[in-house]
Formats: sequence, structure tokens, C-alpha cells
Amino acid sequence: MVLAKNETVLNGALRHGVAFPHSCKVGGCAACKCRLVSGQVRELTDKSYLLSREEIRDNFILGCQSIPLSDVTVELPVNPLANQHTTGTLTRQMMLTHDIAEIFLTLDDPVRYLPGQHASLRALYTEIPARCYSFAHRCAEDGNREICFFVRRVPNGLFSNWLLDPASLNQRVAVEASLGDFHLRPGDSALVCMAGGSGLSPLIALLEGACDTEAVNRPVYLLMGARSQRDLYYTDEIRALQQRWRAPFTFLPVLSEEPADSDWSGLRGWVTDALTPEITANAQGYLCGPPPMIDVAIERMTALGMDREAIFFDKFSDQTAR
Ligand SMILES: Cc1cc2nc3c(=O)[nH]c(=O)nc-3n(C[C@H](O)[C@H](O)[C@H](O)COP(=O)(O)OP(=O)(O)OC[C@H]3O[C@@H](n4cnc5c(N)ncnc54)[C@H](O)[C@@H]3O)c2cc1C
Ligand code: FES
Repeated sequence: MVLAKNETVLNGALRHGVAFPHSCKVGGCAACKCRLVSGQVRELTDKSYLLSREEIRDNFILGCQSIPLSDVTVELPVNPLANQHTTGTLTRQMMLTHDIAEIFLTLDDPVRYLPGQHASLRALYTEIPARCYSFAHRCAEDGNREICFFVRRVPNGLFSNWLLDPASLNQRVAVEASLGDFHLRPGDSALVCMAGGSGLSPLIALLEGACDTEAVNRPVYLLMGARSQRDLYYTDEIRALQQRWRAPFTFLPVLSEEPADSDWSGLRGWVTDALTPEITANAQGYLCGPPPMIDVAIERMTALGMDREAIFFDKFSDQTAR
């Protein structure tokens, strides 16, 4: 296929109808990673924050950040759960905090996903572009017909406001599943999970899914960053998960803007500052939420001696550049 001048590998492929996996299109999520088999590209951003050393050594690039300088051949990673397309109805919206809601869709056909993966949703019969949301609960073996997401209302956000608007109830939504490679990796080391805002959703899915497996025997630290007590949610459900867990499960909510004179006796400050050598020792990291939190967490985790290859994340990046 022939690409236009300065067109990225991803945009060119999409324009030619290739089902090239992608999410943010701005170098923030790694959904478009692919292996450069031959040829040369100009890279628009530093990919080392998203790709592992191994992937960089194996010539992986980000399709959305690579402009061909010659004829190129790229190879896409295999995601057996990709390309599930269905439609569904928005059936329930439950406010969890003043700006985060649990959103339920009932689908025409069940979708299968690995806990941690996300879907691309689009409101039918509107001009609002598709956006990505992470599945919030475990997936049944033969798939889920009811799917659920934690969605934060972004000020002036087109789709998040649509999803939280009571007038959108019973409206139809197009669903593309299952995207991304954020999921639980094998091993017996501790799991250090860090969530910011609605970033808790894939971590709940991941931990719920782990309850059905041997991973329930791995120690867990779940760090949840929020501004104040009114931004904390799902704490009862987390305590229920703690009860089901077989190894020690430490839940650490950390508040960054809680008034100094309040009754809060838990941790204060940035959630990334709550990482200690004890927490990170011989652990795997699972991070989800705003990109700046994830960048700082990776820096701190590696400074504390964690192997970069043992840190996995999903950045909830802005998709307005689509
Ligand atoms: C892989 C992935 C998974 C995601 N999972 C979730 C999820 O489970 N729950 C969830 O709530 N969100 C999630 N997001 C973010 C989500 O896809 C949307 O970007 C978000 O809901 C805003 O979309 P919008 O249409 O409402 O705002 P837009 O109309 O796209 O943006 C409105 C304004 O807000 C700014 N903006 C957009 N997004 C953000 C943001 N995240 N933070 C701050 N400012 C922003 C824009 O620059 C613009 O100025 C995920 C993103 C990715 C890439
Ligand atoms: S689509 Fe390329 S990094 Fe997100």
C-alpha cells in the first residue's frame, strides 16, 4: 500500500482498511505496537516508556508514532481476542463518586476478554468519536453479555459526559473488543497494583480474575490514589476481595488533597510516594490511570530496584488527537 507524505504507519494502514490495533493514536498506550521486519521509519516520540527493552531489541515500534522513510514491512502481534464487534444497550449508570460512575451495557453477543483488557465504545447515531474503556470485572469462560466500566466524567469530555447522562440510558453503543495487552503475567512474586481515578477498573478485573487461579496465593499491595475521601470508591468490594485472597492483601488508599484537619487516618500525599522498598521487593507492578502518575510510578519503581520488564501498565490517555 502507498502512504501519504508524513502519514504514520497506523494511519496509512487504517486508511487502507487494515484492522490495525490502536487506542490513543498519540503514543500513550502501546496498543499499536508492531515489529518492524524491514525498512526504516522516523519515530515521533520516545518509545522506551511504553516498550520493554526486549521489545525494542526485537525492533518493535509504535505504528501511530512511526513515519516510513522507505518501503517498510511490519508484523502485528497476535491478539486472539481482537476483532469481536457487537452492539449493546446502555442499561445502568451508578454513581460511585461525584465524578465516577459504574456503567453497564447489555450486549447482543457476549464478548471475551482477559481481565485488564479494554474495549472501544462508540455511541451509535451520534457524531461522538469512539473512546476506550477498561473492563471492570472478571470475564466468564464463555464471555460476558453484561459488561461494566468505571467512567470518570472529564470536564467538557464528549463521550464520558454522554455515558454519564441519564438521557443516554437505553441508547445503543457499538463495541469493539478486546484490546490491549494489560493482563496478569505468570509468576509467584507479589503484585503491586496502583490505580489513579477510574484506573481502578482493570485492576479490579485482574484481581477478581486471579481469585479463580493459583495467583490468589501471591501477596498483593493495592495502592489507590485519590484527592480526598469523597473520591474513594469500591472500598467495600476491595475489602470483600481481601477476604477471598489467600495470601496477604494490603490495601493502601492515599489522599493527595484531604484537608489537614479531617478525620482521615490513612496515608496522605502522592500515591507514588507510598511505594517503599518493602512493597516493591521482588514484585511485579500493574499500574493504571493517568499517564503522569504512571510515568512517575515507573521511575520510582525502577529507582527502588524493580526490573522495568516486570512493570506493566495501561495509560488512560487523551484520545482527542484522533
Ligand atoms: C487504553 C485506555 C483505556 C481507558 N480506560 C478508561 C476507563 O476505564 N475509564 C475512564 O474513565 N477512562 C478511560 N480511558 C480514557 C477514555 O478513553 C477517554 O479518553 C476519556 O473518557 C475522555 O473522553 P471524552 O470523550 O469524555 O473527552 P474528550 O472529548 O476526548 O476530551 C475533552 C477534553 O478533556 C481532555 N481530556 C481527554 N481525556 C482526558 C483525560 N483522560 N484526562 C484529562 N483530560 C482529558 C481533552 O484534551 C479535551 O480537552 C482510557 C483510555 C485509554 C487509552
Ligand atoms: S495507538 Fe499508538 S500508542 Fe496508543
